Amino acid sequence: MAATLTDATLAILGGKPEVPQGLIRNWPPIDDLDRRMVLASLEQDNHAFGPNCQAFEREWAAWNGNRHAITTNSGTAALHMGIAAAGCSAGDHVLVPAYSWSSSATCILHHNCIPVFVDIDWDTMNLDVGQIEAAITPRTKAIVVVHLHGLAVDMDRLLAVARRHGLKVIEDACQSHGATFRGRKVGTFGDCAAFSFNQNKSLCSGEGGMFVTDDEEMRQRAAQLWNFGETRTPAQRRDYHAYALGWMYRNNDLTAAFGRAQLAKLSAHLQVQRENGAVLRRELQGVPGLLLPVEPEGHGHTYYNFTCRIDMPAIGWTGAPARMRDAVVKALNAEGVPAGVWQSFILPRMTVFQAKNAYGHGSPWAEHGALDVDYRPESFPVAQKHADAHFGMTTPLRAPNGPEAARAVGRAMRKVFEQIGKLDVDSLLEGR
Ligand SMILES: Cc1ncc(COP(=O)(O)O)c(C=O)c1O
Repeated sequence: MAATLTDATLAILGGKPEVPQGLIRNWPPIDDLDRRMVLASLEQDNHAFGPNCQAFEREWAAWNGNRHAITTNSGTAALHMGIAAAGCSAGDHVLVPAYSWSSSATCILHHNCIPVFVDIDWDTMNLDVGQIEAAITPRTKAIVVVHLHGLAVDMDRLLAVARRHGLKVIEDACQSHGATFRGRKVGTFGDCAAFSFNQNKSLCSGEGGMFVTDDEEMRQRAAQLWNFGETRTPAQRRDYHAYALGWMYRNNDLTAAFGRAQLAKLSAHLQVQRENGAVLRRELQGVPGLLLPVEPEGHGHTYYNFTCRIDMPAIGWTGAPARMRDAVVKALNAEGVPAGVWQSFILPRMTVFQAKNAYGHGSPWAEHGALDVDYRPESFPVAQKHADAHFGMTTPLRAPNGPEAARAVGRAMRKVFEQIGKLDVDSLLEGR
């Protein structure tokens, strides 16, 4: 006889989804300001580095508290500009956390430098500052500090290590617009920083990014890489001369117009994200087996991505952690929660690093005597444990969603975790 369905029956076992369809609305909200600014851009006649690009740079610099900003076509471009601006040269070692987006580390390869990974801290999911010194060699030039998921790294501790060893600091703030440490926004601590404005980011302009710095010399080096190696911007009289190796990382006017409209609403959007994050945290306090994101004293989390971990021993799971996690994500999706796995691979495990052959002939590792740099996954156990146990979500916490969506997601998560023992992991993952 089939089991009786009740309100508590998990949706994946045939019950009713806890989050009604249509309750969670899409990101980003578009209003008349977006429409007006994008149309106005269309109707003027400089569609490349036009007036919206220049205005976006000024407005972003003012919003974030930087002297200089350069608008780019991606966060990755801004990161590569950061490596160049920091004065990194071929063969230099650059430290980067073992768990992040691929381009936090591949931007180092783009500049013919060698990424050296550092494990992460379990609680914050960010770079473990206490492990940086062990990774420094005489060839170490800089650190890419990633503020992951909306939580800033402890920049007091990080800058103390960097200063002690004369290292440049490039902040990867691609996920952390408006995140604060001791009341200051990320992107104002290091020598320079990169932001992303892609679809999922707290400021979405479709694609796009921003490079920021307070240092005029660094701005110039970044600008040269950004614009074909030239020394003048497209707003000046150009001589079209490549003074150095450059790429084409410029933004365009339409995207910048969209970005400016979203920037006008960014502080309000971030406020919504923080409030919804607080609601969700309250809903989930004390749920067995669920580890919530932390917000240490002195940090202002933006909940860009509300990332949780499953406490495997607490739920009595002794199989492969990622299998239980994947089954839980399936059960949450069935309840209508748009949860997902952000990165299932730690960076050193990715093929580009394992192969040590980015440009052919083993370049850049072979030519710089760096073939022995340690990319063994087992050297980064905390990153691996996190990669296997985490899941997260962005949309339910974003405007235009309010506390109702956060509360529904909270109820659904509680429902799944309270009945986690009912998940038949093998049959749920069958056929994978
Ligand atoms: C931490 C981090 N760094 C860098 C990037 C790259 O940004 P983009 O996709 O704009 O190149 C992203 C986003 O994808 C990211 O999450």
